[in-house]
Amino acid sequence: MANVNIKLLIATLLSGMMALVLGGCQSLNSKPDDSLYQQLGEREGIANVVEDLLYLIVDDERINQQFKGVDVAQFHDNLTDQLCELSGGPCTYTGREMRELHSDMAITDTQFNALAENLILSMEQNNIPTGAQNRLLKQLIPLYPDIRNL
Ligand code: HEM
Repeated sequence: MANVNIKLLIATLLSGMMALVLGGCQSLNSKPDDSLYQQLGEREGIANVVEDLLYLIVDDERINQQFKGVDVAQFHDNLTDQLCELSGGPCTYTGREMRELHSDMAITDTQFNALAENLILSMEQNNIPTGAQNRLLKQLIPLYPDIRNL
């Protein structure tokens, strides 16, 4: 009886080790998930979304005051890199940290939602599928406390 249990134990340990080894190999071989980045049309597609977002911001009385005097080219580049990176693309955001950037702006929920709404509109204008829109918004949710300075 004890003999059987030892065999069972060894078999269980071995299969566990195999699973670890195979799992390790798989994670070494598998590429990072860039499917959202692809759905957004890679960096060029994201840059187009950000450009249209900027036009919508300028026309939006709820938030355009906040953007007075902002370096538009730099904003465009940095936000594009950030969205590229967050969507699994091969970019690195090199701008300032989110909390530090937005800390003096006293951004309200209405303003945060206005920006999110404009981003959705811009993605609509660029024919980004709804599923991809939602995936990108999900990546932005963790930034909310930093941007609202909570
Ligand atoms: C999901 C929401 C948001 C994201 C992902 C985001 C992201 C960014 C990024 C990446 C930058 C850096 C751009 C640069 O280097 O110039 C930035 C700057 C800025 N953001 Fe946001 N932002 C968000 C919400 C908001 C909201 C709601 C407002 C105001 C209504 C706002 C106002 C600004 C302004 C004025 C700057 C320029 C700051 C400066 O140049 O000193 N942002 N944001």
